[in-house]
Amino acid sequence: MKVTIYGSGYVGLVTGACLAEVGNHVLCVDIDPDKIARLEQGEIPIHEPGLDALVADNIAAGRLAFTLDPAEGVRHGLFQFIAVGTPPDEDGSADLSHVLAVARTIAEHLDDYRIVVNKSTVPVGTADQVRTVMADTLAQRGAPVDFDVVSNPEFLKEGAAIDDFMKPDRIIIGTDNPRTAELMRALYAPFNRNHDRVMIMDIRSAELTKYAANAMLATKISFMNELANLAEKLGADIEHVRQGMGSDPRIGYHFIYPGCGYGGSCFPKDVKALEHTARQVGFPARLLAAVEAVNHHQKTRLFDKIHAHFNGDLQGRTIALWGLAFKPNTDDMREASSRTLMEALWAAGVHVRAHDPVAMEECTRLYGSRPDLTLCQDHETALLGADALVIVTEWHVFRSPDFDLIRRRLKTPTLFDGRNLYDPQYLEDLGFAYYAIGRGR
Ligand code: UGA
Repeated sequence: MKVTIYGSGYVGLVTGACLAEVGNHVLCVDIDPDKIARLEQGEIPIHEPGLDALVADNIAAGRLAFTLDPAEGVRHGLFQFIAVGTPPDEDGSADLSHVLAVARTIAEHLDDYRIVVNKSTVPVGTADQVRTVMADTLAQRGAPVDFDVVSNPEFLKEGAAIDDFMKPDRIIIGTDNPRTAELMRALYAPFNRNHDRVMIMDIRSAELTKYAANAMLATKISFMNELANLAEKLGADIEHVRQGMGSDPRIGYHFIYPGCGYGGSCFPKDVKALEHTARQVGFPARLLAAVEAVNHHQKTRLFDKIHAHFNGDLQGRTIALWGLAFKPNTDDMREASSRTLMEALWAAGVHVRAHDPVAMEECTRLYGSRPDLTLCQDHETALLGADALVIVTEWHVFRSPDFDLIRRRLKTPTLFDGRNLYDPQYLEDLGFAYYAIGRGR
């Protein structure tokens, strides 16, 4: 089948490469000439395990191509995927200008039936807006061409996106046209493992499912973070509590890890956007507001612990920081807890010696070179001359470090662990002042 994808960012590229991998002919359209030129050379602008090889293989096989020309894009695919960004506006609502601009562009070139598939995360009602924009544009052109609009939200996790696309838990398709539903089913048939993963529903339910899933996951995390803070006050260990809770299959072990807050481009943005949508329809979503507020507070917990440990005497100190990305296996630092922490440390006059296996370039892009930040080539070098070590991202390489070396390199053996990686008793026996989340102190 022939597929066109507008937007060669994270979602667009993964979708394009995976649809090509199963035999479709995919054309990716973007407005950034530099990006397209680099992609044609097989250069991937984002860090996602396995994506480079998948893109390169499919370009070589002639199933994946890139263009700046939207007219070529509209001619190419029966399926026209919109996978452009929806950044948050000032008020938390999703900015739909890119999505609607693509809809207009498609309609400007449309001369035959096409299925327009919304892959971007968009508020409920966006498919209707896409339809209206396209219908208006076609009316202005005097071109009565038939088209359908489908909602097909993505559920990719950064760092595991290829696997998530190739082996999905579910494929949500929102459409009001049974014939379109069958065509979408056929497109996704190669991704049904063991049983049918496709769920057909009305468009608004599909749009809401995406936000509902992310909001539920964010709620689980904020719930656990709230409990972790309470456990500290009560002298309980949240890790025991987590295991005791997770063993109930109705609760489960997934996404109940307390820590220094959730980040990334999805949870913070989607919780805010859903809350905004709720307010717009006169329904104050109290739980969502609380999820967001708890997370905001959670990102300040590490700094508060550091501040308390040093009795507020932070000016001129050095802190070693392990992990900059919002989670392992990505270089993404959007809404990362490391940023809240570093910014608070800098404001208190602290020098940060940081290491991240892949996000250091991104850190330089965000903060430039500054006198109170040293990016170190490995995590052990970051320790040199530091008063304490703070861990923000649970990269594998931090899970079993050389504690002797840490003790020798730090001025005092003090460790703040934002991801509960170690056994508090073991660390205390080694002579560390060890602070975790929800585990005593
Ligand atoms: C999230 C969802 O998990 C995907 O299903 C969804 O498709 C995606 O958003 C999206 O909307 O595009 P992602 O943002 O890549 O994926 O990352 P997650 O693995 O969900 O982690 C989000 C944050 O939650 C990270 O900062 C992580 O450290 C934190 N987290 C996760 C916890 O603090 N505790 C947990 O138990 C799990």
